[in-house]
Amino acid sequence: MSESPALPVTLDRGSPTPLAVQLAQELRAAAGDGRLRSGDRLPSTRALALQLNVSRTVTAAAYEQLHAEGWITGKHGSGTYVTTAPPGSPSARPKAKATESADVAAVDLRPGSPWASGIDRSAWRRAWRGAADVAPLPRPTRAGVPAYRAAVAEHLLRHRGLRVSGEYDGGEGESVLATAGTTAAVAELAASVLCRGDVVAVEEPGYQRAVQTMRAAGLVVVPVPVDADGLLLDAVPAGARAVYCSPAHQYPLGRRMSAARRVELVDRARRDGWLVIEDDYDGELRYDVAPLPLLASLAPDVVVHLGTTSKILTPALGVGWMVAPPPVVAAVLHHRDITGTSPSAAGQFVVVELARNGDLGRHLRKLRRELSERRGMLVDALTGAGVRFLGDDAGAHLVVPLCSAGQEHELIEAATGRGIVLDGLARHHCGPATWFGIAVGYAACSREQLQAAIPDLLSLLSRSSDQWGTPSG
Ligand SMILES: Cc1ncc(COP(=O)(O)O)c(C=O)c1O
Repeated sequence: MSESPALPVTLDRGSPTPLAVQLAQELRAAAGDGRLRSGDRLPSTRALALQLNVSRTVTAAAYEQLHAEGWITGKHGSGTYVTTAPPGSPSARPKAKATESADVAAVDLRPGSPWASGIDRSAWRRAWRGAADVAPLPRPTRAGVPAYRAAVAEHLLRHRGLRVSGEYDGGEGESVLATAGTTAAVAELAASVLCRGDVVAVEEPGYQRAVQTMRAAGLVVVPVPVDADGLLLDAVPAGARAVYCSPAHQYPLGRRMSAARRVELVDRARRDGWLVIEDDYDGELRYDVAPLPLLASLAPDVVVHLGTTSKILTPALGVGWMVAPPPVVAAVLHHRDITGTSPSAAGQFVVVELARNGDLGRHLRKLRRELSERRGMLVDALTGAGVRFLGDDAGAHLVVPLCSAGQEHELIEAATGRGIVLDGLARHHCGPATWFGIAVGYAACSREQLQAAIPDLLSLLSRSSDQWGTPSG
């Protein structure tokens, strides 16, 4: 917000148009072309009258008009501010594209974004201040900041039941590496451990950013269907070099890979030479479901475990971790060395501080409580309305299956008209879509927005009465 030093206004005293009307027109035009921006403080009516050499009645009348039109806001004594500007002007706040016609504030119910506004701001500031106190490093730490990797080891033990070894000094036997997030880690694996032309089996539907990242690196991605137990192992093609999956909370369907399928998967991986990439994107967010052993604890020799702070803090931090067998760690470190790339240390220091102050633990408890309550609201409403949904009591989204692409498309369009942004399942396939429906995320919006959107969502879903569409169980 800034105060406009001298308003860019000229008045024509010879014109038959009253001065107050001219002034209002000038101010509207200034907001329209960006000379005035949303949040700019306007001078008082008295100061502006002095500047323009007009009576205060003129400035007061112009402000009153603009106030009535919603261009400015403010009370006597506390300042007057520009609040809005026409679409297309530099000061216009971007709205969600889909809702422009509806002219309502969009409620974003797409999955993916975390509850970033739930991060305690003093804890966040404390962590950044602490991170800023660290002496500048003379060179990048290829494996990641040792204190960060130690904090990750502690986090994995406490929240994921995974015990990892290492001195975190970059020597032999390291198994934990810092990454710039899961997608960045996939790119590193594709460039270091895997080779162009290697076949990678991925869950279908699945996480398309990983798919695109692998394809961009020249890997051959083969979609493999999932059933209620997880990835269908018999559909993994012969000669596959790796299998990418999200066993804790299959993305986007939200179900856990069963214990039996996990054991079978790592057995097959050992027998057939697959490297298993375990995407544990939101494994910390589990409410009423028992934890199952991570693939990385069942078979640390063939599993690369990827974690991220994107769902528990913010993707803007760009911080994650990899736990991998020694040859994979060595290959990734070698790749970082020859390409001169390593994940930025700044975000790692922030996580170290959050963990050291106990703020990470407090935030995780608060996050779980909040998201489990939001999920409860949504589940109660859907159950009460007889709407079938999928997904374990975990994570930050659930899935409402539908019968067809047409139904999915219609529902998303209708929701858009009511200011609700939804995500469809069809786009989470890399082959022809077999699952249709919507994935409803409940972390990115506020609790009030979610509460207000639920009746609309139910009424839209009740129109999709023929709701059942689950191709593989
Ligand atoms: C399935 C899945 N994996 C991983 C991630 C996180 O990726 P990153 O750490 O690159 O932000 C996401 C984020 O949306 C996701 O949905």
